[in-house]
Amino acid sequence: MTRGLFISFEGIDGAGKSTHIDRVAQLFRAAGRTVVLTREPGGTPLSEKLRELVLHEPMDPLTEALLMFAARREHLVQVIEPALARGDVVLCDRFTDATFAYQGGGRGFDWQVLSQLEHMVQALPHGHLRQPELTLWFDLDPHIAAQRLASARVPDKFESQPADFFAAVRAGYAKRQSEMPSRFAQIDASQSMDAVGTEVVRVVTAWLQKVSA
Ligand code: TYD
Repeated sequence: MTRGLFISFEGIDGAGKSTHIDRVAQLFRAAGRTVVLTREPGGTPLSEKLRELVLHEPMDPLTEALLMFAARREHLVQVIEPALARGDVVLCDRFTDATFAYQGGGRGFDWQVLSQLEHMVQALPHGHLRQPELTLWFDLDPHIAAQRLASARVPDKFESQPADFFAAVRAGYAKRQSEMPSRFAQIDASQSMDAVGTEVVRVVTAWLQKVSA
């Protein structure tokens, strides 16, 4: 049996990551793999309910962080772990790096508390932590992201934040990358959609060769 793979997609709102997830899914399906496409917060009926609350209701920062991790716990137990155990490819639109970037960087919430929650929620046997093996970080200047978002749909609680919030989120992603550099691939999302797509395929293909060698 082929082993499961866990890849996450990250970036500030407006960076354009969602389009490229489908491209990566096609890549794996063409190679005969079963792909589970999912997202956070969300991915299970309960986690999608939590998503509605957390994206639209004002709340205390600790409540917000706890709800993100509560949704994640459910998602891990119900969807991600079973899929990895079956040998599927899990492509997740955001995961814990988003909590560090948005709640930690953007909101200024305590990074250590987030680490504690991460250890509680993502614990595996033998002291290991469940993490994506590869994280594609679509990195973009918040001013360019804001221009892209301006023409998009009605913004949620996070999307309506000012550019300096997203500058802090971006710094949160950079900090997270510096803590765990080996699983991050930073993609310059200011390029054209096609150029970003080409880079995504190149990064994923090179990574696959490395892990299957
Ligand atoms: P997003 O992934 O951009 O979905 P859509 O493309 O449908 O808008 O929206 C999720 C929002 O939730 C995004 O603004 C980031 C935020 N978020 C957090 O603040 N913390 C988290 O842990 C996660 C997973 C997301």
